[in-house]
Amino acid sequence: GRVLLAYSGGLDTSCILAWLIEEGYEVIAFMADVGQEEDFEAARKKALAVGAKKFYLVDLKREFVTELIYPALQANCIYENVYLLGTSLARPIIARGMMSIAEKEGCHFVSHGCTGKGNDQVRFELAFYGLKPDIKVIAPWRIPAEFYHRFAGRQALLAYAAEKKIPVQQTAAKPWSTDENLFHISYEAGILEDPDTTPPADMWKLTTDPEQAPQTPQRISIEFAAGLPVKVTVPDENKVYTDGVEIFLALNALARKHGIGRIDIVENRFIGVKSRGCYESPGATILRAAHVDLEGLTLDRNVRALRDQFVTIELSRILYNGHWFTPEREFVISSIPASQKTVNGVVRLKLYKGNVVIEGRSSDEGLYDEKESSMDELGGFEPTDTTGFIAIESIRIKKWAQANIRKGRV
Ligand code: ARG
Ligand code: SIN
Repeated sequence: GRVLLAYSGGLDTSCILAWLIEEGYEVIAFMADVGQEEDFEAARKKALAVGAKKFYLVDLKREFVTELIYPALQANCIYENVYLLGTSLARPIIARGMMSIAEKEGCHFVSHGCTGKGNDQVRFELAFYGLKPDIKVIAPWRIPAEFYHRFAGRQALLAYAAEKKIPVQQTAAKPWSTDENLFHISYEAGILEDPDTTPPADMWKLTTDPEQAPQTPQRISIEFAAGLPVKVTVPDENKVYTDGVEIFLALNALARKHGIGRIDIVENRFIGVKSRGCYESPGATILRAAHVDLEGLTLDRNVRALRDQFVTIELSRILYNGHWFTPEREFVISSIPASQKTVNGVVRLKLYKGNVVIEGRSSDEGLYDEKESSMDELGGFEPTDTTGFIAIESIRIKKWAQANIRKGRV
């Protein structure tokens, strides 16, 4: 049969490629360009040298931004209060890219190098089945005798690589594993598995150490339309960005310079194990802060509360757990436009030593009324009106307090 292999160019997937061929499969290697820093040409050469029949490099950056990152930004998605979901966001797009090549090339099988303990195996495979329910998955790291026992440990992989003439990078392997795209980079495993080990300073790749960041702050503004960034203005560089992908790249560069977007978390994986991860989401951190701020000015209170309790939480969970190609995702996503139609305006920000400081915001949506909110002026209601409001609101609170006193629960 024909297998489409999610190939990374690294040791693991190169060995998987050789092993699939040894097992009698014809292998096509697939790589997605989701904005990671990568020598795609070297990977292509390597895949073909190891024996892949074909190599596909598919540029998925734009759909990654518009179809996945945008809704996540509009919904302020975040996992366990900290993680902005950078890896989770790329998986549906990569899986869809793979299924379209699998279809085109008549591959009945698809294979990947995810371990049997992580989230990515679940995300990829559920996405494959959500698009092409008859696809057969070969997950080598879950095949006991043939694969993971045989390749237990890096030494066995290196020996196999030597036997199969797979070129192994001369640079010493970093003592952690990474996943990169234009939204973020992740660092996990290796020395990071001890949650009390501080990541070494040279691990962080996408951002400057905030301590080394410029002493002078930089000011930018971001304009949103319906909750999406449509214009980023960088006055001191005389730059304006309006294209979706370029906005992202520009904000990444600014955040990098000012050391913005580093996090370190112990998170709960879908399968139930805890895992320590470090992430850099530079531009995304700026965008989220600006978006959350503008909603303060432009979003109705009750819409916001419903959205926070339902859409933000559910969509974050859907993304993290790999439930993108599901009916619940369609349902949750469909509510986003209704929550974002008033989120129009401009946020002014200061970037300074790891911080995104909001300096002001403006909008013509008009939900905020300076007179109404002012402590110095009378608005559209009399201050005495609130006496009645408090009297009614306090009925049940007084009853509760009286009952507590009667029962000695105070
Ligand atoms: N823990 C993060 C997540 O589940 C990052 C996963 C990184 N994946 C990888 N193949 N290195 O989204
Ligand atoms: C892996 O286990 O392959 C990477 C980490 C994850 O998927 O959570």
